[in-house]
Amino acid sequence: MNSAIKSKLRLNLRARRQSLSREQQSIAASQLMRRLIQLPAFRSARHIAGYIASDGEISPATLLRHADLCAKHCYLPKISQAASSNSMAFYPYHHRQQLRPNRYGIGEPPGLHRQAQAANKLDIVLLPLTAFDKAGRRLGMGGGYYDRAFAFKRNTKARKPIMIGLAHHCQEVNSLPSDDWDIPLDFIVTDRQVMKVKKR
Ligand SMILES: Nc1ncnc2c1ncn2[C@@H]1O[C@H](COP(=O)(O)OP(=O)(O)OP(=O)(O)O)[C@@H](O)[C@H]1O
Ligand SMILES: [Mg+2]
Repeated sequence: MNSAIKSKLRLNLRARRQSLSREQQSIAASQLMRRLIQLPAFRSARHIAGYIASDGEISPATLLRHADLCAKHCYLPKISQAASSNSMAFYPYHHRQQLRPNRYGIGEPPGLHRQAQAANKLDIVLLPLTAFDKAGRRLGMGGGYYDRAFAFKRNTKARKPIMIGLAHHCQEVNSLPSDDWDIPLDFIVTDRQVMKVKKR
């Protein structure tokens, strides 16, 4: 039931962000950077995971470049090559590094398996949202990659990493369905606001 509602919402909300112009995207990315850079969680973080924006997602690229130049350690997700496994790990990333497209066409760092950073050793994770609501619920792209990689955050009192969902303002909806496996967010940051998610 939830899965049908989630699929329909994804189509709708993806179309919204895809319709943003290049200029709107660029303004939104600068506004996002301005807000994120002021977050104490970002300032104190040493190990930061981000992503390469695709499908109209809001881009944290400038922030990652800034973090890299400030000698913070940055990471990008890399999905397993076996199409059946749906797992994801985080590899070191430097902003001038050449990336290689994965099966979704999203750039990934070349890192070797032994260079992967354990998910619970990251300080903050910036993750793309397809939709969010006022209660802080999130909708991703439907692969369950983030839900799997950070499933340990549901069952333990682990404070780290701090999960920060990023989205365009226009991706907010009234209410989202939620499943047991959906990992909770700590903050949602858009081009227009910073929302601290209340713990349930
Ligand atoms: N911890 C988990 N272990 C196994 N399967 C999981 C886990 N978390 C989610 N899944 C599976 O992933 C699928 C997609 O989940 P969901 O629709 O919530 O994706 P999503 O949150 O949009 O994706 P993402 O986490 O990549 O942003 C579901 O079929 C679900 O069963
Ligand atoms: Mg989910």
